[in-house]
Amino acid sequence: MAAADNANNLFFNTYKRLPLRPTRGEGVHIYTEDGREYLDLFAGVAVNALGHSHPRVVAAITDQARRYIHVSNYFQQEPQEHLAALLLRHSGMARVFLANSGAEVVEGALKIARLWGGPRGRREIVGFGGAFHGRTFGALSVMDRPGYRDGFGPFLDGCRSLPFNDVAALEAGVGPQTAAVILECIQGEGGVRPVSDAFAAALKDLRRRHGFLVIADEIQSGGFRTGPFLACEHWDLQPDLVTLAKPIGGGLPLGAILGAASVADVLQSGMHGTTFGGNPVACAAGVAVLEEIEEKGLATHAVAMGALLQSRLEEIAAAFPAQAREVRGRGLMMALELADDAAPVVEALRDRGILVNATERTVLRFVPPLVIGPEHIEQAAAALREVLGAR
Ligand SMILES: Cc1ncc(COP(=O)(O)O)c(C=O)c1O
Repeated sequence: MAAADNANNLFFNTYKRLPLRPTRGEGVHIYTEDGREYLDLFAGVAVNALGHSHPRVVAAITDQARRYIHVSNYFQQEPQEHLAALLLRHSGMARVFLANSGAEVVEGALKIARLWGGPRGRREIVGFGGAFHGRTFGALSVMDRPGYRDGFGPFLDGCRSLPFNDVAALEAGVGPQTAAVILECIQGEGGVRPVSDAFAAALKDLRRRHGFLVIADEIQSGGFRTGPFLACEHWDLQPDLVTLAKPIGGGLPLGAILGAASVADVLQSGMHGTTFGGNPVACAAGVAVLEEIEEKGLATHAVAMGALLQSRLEEIAAAFPAQAREVRGRGLMMALELADDAAPVVEALRDRGILVNATERTVLRFVPPLVIGPEHIEQAAAALREVLGAR
């Protein structure tokens, strides 16, 4: 029985799975059951910052698993404290809440915004068109994407979505009723779309005038992927709340809400919690990731590799003007928007041993491990040229 058929008989039909069965991952490569090697420019959807099974992450996981795997949040746990201290140092924020996934920390951040806004008479939470914040009701409530929302309503009261990068709509849409605005400074699932400088400036100005909270969803863009620890630093946004997940658990499930001093005292004992959140093995893996990034200068490396990737994609876009629309992104969060459906290109690249993914139908998204080398980018660029040249 084919791999995909087997999976379809076991699970709810939620994922369109690739016809690949990995047996091993190492660095930027995945090896499959049929003996093939793939260059992974997808990194488990921007999770594997150090690539697959990095020895430092494996050692941290093994070591912590031998000590204790789970004790619950009734205990003081060194791996949690170590990770929290690193997250605060890198972000300049004041408090951390550790959870298990992206959607869960978005949910938690929205709850903090409601708690903060309630006594101030502010009930409205504003999201932006094209954003993706996860699959829970809170996250879906601040999104405008029919494909993710259809059939699941009604959603939370007091949530609305405004068009992204539309300054006039923002000015008209926020005010003293606004508790918080949630945004991805670089929309990931939405097609690697950065916030415009004008929109970021208007948001900062409106926040000064109206005093609402800003929540930066850095689940995909955070963790040094674009150079700074948080992508919102490119626009000096200084958010009140930050949501993080994907890379910070080294491939294990982990999410974090970071809060600035403005919200440090909003949550009181018993108001929020989770059984598994901040699992010590995941935290130990996250510490290994962040320390390796810092010690090896991988943030600077990500910027250099991002620049190389961007220039190769721009050359390719110039060479195939009928097929390519735009190259955009920052650091190692990069995209080539095609004029047409990206799926056949993704498939042809896969046949040549390169894994990328498509978002928004026409956008080829590149979110490789930060440890990627120039030779891998050249290999991917050569394959992409070949694929577009053959169309
Ligand atoms: C920006 C952003 N927010 C939230 C999420 C949801 O994270 P999770 O899938 O861990 O719930 C994602 C996942 O892709 C994301 O990219």
